[in-house]
Amino acid sequence: MHTWAVLLAAGKGARISEACGRTRKQFIEWNGAPLFWHSAAMLSRIARVRGIIFVLPAEEIEAATTRLKQLDDGRALGIPWKTVCGGERRQDSVYSGLIALPEQCDHVLVHDSARPFADANLCNRILDALHNGAEGVIPALPVTDTIKVVEAGIVKTTPDRSSLVAVQTPQGFQKNVLLKAHEICRQNNWDVTDDASLLERCEDMRVQTVAGQADNIKITNAEDLSLLKQKSDAPAMLPCFGWGYDVHRFGQNGRPMKLGGVPIAGGPAVLAHSDGDVLLHALMDAVLGCMAMGDIGMLFPDTDAAFDNADSSVLLNEVLEKVRNEGLLITHIDLTIITQIPRIGPWRDQIHKNICRLTRIQAGQVNVKATTEEKLGFTGEKKGIKAVAAVTGLRPALS
Ligand code: CTP
Ligand code: MG
Repeated sequence: MHTWAVLLAAGKGARISEACGRTRKQFIEWNGAPLFWHSAAMLSRIARVRGIIFVLPAEEIEAATTRLKQLDDGRALGIPWKTVCGGERRQDSVYSGLIALPEQCDHVLVHDSARPFADANLCNRILDALHNGAEGVIPALPVTDTIKVVEAGIVKTTPDRSSLVAVQTPQGFQKNVLLKAHEICRQNNWDVTDDASLLERCEDMRVQTVAGQADNIKITNAEDLSLLKQKSDAPAMLPCFGWGYDVHRFGQNGRPMKLGGVPIAGGPAVLAHSDGDVLLHALMDAVLGCMAMGDIGMLFPDTDAAFDNADSSVLLNEVLEKVRNEGLLITHIDLTIITQIPRIGPWRDQIHKNICRLTRIQAGQVNVKATTEEKLGFTGEKKGIKAVAAVTGLRPALS
């Protein structure tokens, strides 16, 4: 089998036009590309599909071909493709696509680009049936509603539902069979809404069904646009990590010690421009680190009088607001206080609880611990205090 796909994208989209601001529905931007691209991407991932003919509106073929070349830069599709102009009716567009197929192609999948949710399993069911010798194969779903034949608002009959199915695209055919059916159709001026109808009207041509795909909806009316919204890809989230470190010196004219927003009664005074909360400063830097957003010195310069004795909890709120606006989801916080005095043990739970409250993160995702440096260095000499923070999170992938 040598199969190509004819992807129809030449319609006017009249029924949905107003809701799309007059953009043809197949050109609506969805998940970073025009709607018709998504069917092409799906088809290109099917091993048995060797190439794609895009059928486009004559007035837009140049712009659409340029866009396709951009999207396929780096050979995203990985198979050959070409563009041709469509016609007035759907069947005219299909015919334009068929006559553009390469000589060696012997099977074809005809697909409406207005069905962006069709999946590879569906295509493979059709290809399997073609492989087994079928001339025409269409995806079908049993109808669940009772169907009526109505004329001028008056019900005429109720066909037996058990023999009714709703059909979709892609529809698969032996190329010569479909081409012949289209030629007979052109000679007889038939008007049809799908390709299988042509084979049905011709003698000696058989169309068989395979199971359809329930969510393979054709975007047709304004209300179908909400389906696109629902099925929009959530942005891919990538793991990220930030690290923060801060030091404050002890001094007689310092501020009363605060750690993690908790006043540490009896602790040594801390020299600082802000409130000197070494733990929240390290935490803020780690949070900013997750988003590659610099450090707190850049956001709240200590040369700015506005941050004189600033409450670090308020600054943390601002930092969290900024990173949340960029989509950061913090998944874990690990904090270490390094000091000789005071003993942190008695304050640990309170600090832990307050960090959870300030960050709105669950207790099991926040860890607070403390250590001394064995009387070594400036912490050991009780000259100051330091803290380190490690934060992990998920952030939207950069596009
Ligand atoms: N189509 C086409 N050429 C046409 C008419 C339709 O290629 N002359 C394509 C459409 O782009 C669509 C598919 O056939 O992908 C199914 O047609 P339909 O849903 O009816 O789309 P439109 O004809 O564009 O919409 P409308 O009928 O509301 O104008
Ligand atoms: Mg139409």
